[in-house]
Amino acid sequence: MKIAFKDKKAALTRVELLVVLATKGEKPSLPKGVEVAAAVTRELENGFRECRVTDALKGPAKRVLFVGLGPAKELTCEKLRRAAAMGVKEAKKIEAGSVAMLLSTEAEKQIEALGAGQALAEGCGMAAYECTRFKSDPRPSKVKTVALLGSGAAFKKGVQRGDALAGANRFTRDLQDAPGNLMRPRDMVAAAKKLAAKSQRIGLKSLTEAEMKKLGMGSLLSVSRGSEEPAFLIHLTYKPKGRSKGKIAIVGKGLTFDAGGISIKPSAKMDEMKYDMSGGAAVLGLFHALANLDVPYEVHGLVPTSENLPDGKANKPGDIVTAMNKKTIEVLNTDAEGRLILADALAYAVQKIKPDTMIDMATLTGAVIVALGHELTGMVATSDELARALVAAGDETGELVWRLPMIDNHKDHIKGTIGDLRNINGGQGAGSTAGAAFLSHFVGDVEWAHLDIAGTAWGQDDRDYVGGSGGTGVGVRLLINYLENR
Ligand code: BES
Ligand code: ZN
Ligand code: ZN
Repeated sequence: MKIAFKDKKAALTRVELLVVLATKGEKPSLPKGVEVAAAVTRELENGFRECRVTDALKGPAKRVLFVGLGPAKELTCEKLRRAAAMGVKEAKKIEAGSVAMLLSTEAEKQIEALGAGQALAEGCGMAAYECTRFKSDPRPSKVKTVALLGSGAAFKKGVQRGDALAGANRFTRDLQDAPGNLMRPRDMVAAAKKLAAKSQRIGLKSLTEAEMKKLGMGSLLSVSRGSEEPAFLIHLTYKPKGRSKGKIAIVGKGLTFDAGGISIKPSAKMDEMKYDMSGGAAVLGLFHALANLDVPYEVHGLVPTSENLPDGKANKPGDIVTAMNKKTIEVLNTDAEGRLILADALAYAVQKIKPDTMIDMATLTGAVIVALGHELTGMVATSDELARALVAAGDETGELVWRLPMIDNHKDHIKGTIGDLRNINGGQGAGSTAGAAFLSHFVGDVEWAHLDIAGTAWGQDDRDYVGGSGGTGVGVRLLINYLENR
């Protein structure tokens, strides 16, 4: 599906569906020539998400769909995303090949043009996502084009940005939704290679197990030992066009399937563990977006990627492994494997990249779902400024973030008995913070935030453009927003 800006002063060309987004109580004016029955416009209330579709009596649009935005004073970008998404969903339902979308004048007054263009394009582009490629008869959606009607350079720029972000979101969800047998560590590497090949500004190094062994990454390698599939450490680099304002490292957990290892998971819903690579997918999605946007930082993306399976060579509870920073770890639970692969990726970033700021994204704990559910990402951060910036990015993108505490006691809870550390605490609770506390031993004194996306990576409430079953692509729009406002 193609999304394009179109000047709303130009005559509307023939479309199968015209979508009009209007605020509560407003009687929106239609593009020149488009006429609908007077009774329809008279009856419009435009409560948020209220829809009314009608055949046009005359003019270039075959049908017109009105989508309500609710009270003008309460309008937000999130509401625009959702209303726009409803337009695309309706177009899919009625099999409209061509769509034009118009924001009412009252709505236009509420949100600045760049933000409005971006939110509309994001909503449309994300709603276009569908996972049909594993069907023998895929029948993709018939919607081919969406023209976003507006005026001015800012609105047009917003549309282009929203289109790029929605594209990156769909790319991420495609990786997430693929099953474990088709999205193996090597497939994550292949996806990274494709990204790097498409952009001059993106470079790729992918470390093999032999190379990781030389670097002393015994923690990461202990996880892949129980699998036939070799692990990799993907290292993507984005260089800005102009002078770089600093170096940021983003690390994503890329567990393509987590059976738990010897501490095996219960079989119910184990299939959901194909989503355990969502942090890594978001890092790749971030680079998909970076290729199409101008971010003034040097960005490093690290994805440790592996399977976690039980086998004769697998980690056993109690085993001691040594990470790249020489710290020894008692693996008391082989299902707490995400932190084992992230430990070496974080230590690598600190030693080899020396970033100003480091952020990791990981489906790290079931405990974060107990604490926050599926609508908020749990965050632990070492600086208040970074925490505030990520919460603000969450509010703007709708990818909400909630900060969790971490005190010295939490760090002490994961100290080892015969080794330096243990990969789970001793039953003191605070499971999500415990994961972060473990990771904190591998970040040196680099400013750092940990985002536990175990709840938000999939299975969110339906928000029209995302949610319901399937991956959400969480993290991509969040981190682009963070990088752009930093
Ligand atoms: N990948 C899981 C976390 C997870 C659980 C993500 C449910 C999404 C939904 C992680 O590797 C894991 O198994 N964590 C353990 C940690 C525990 C052993 C301390 C967990 O949460 O149970
Ligand atoms: Zn696990
Ligand atoms: Zn896991």
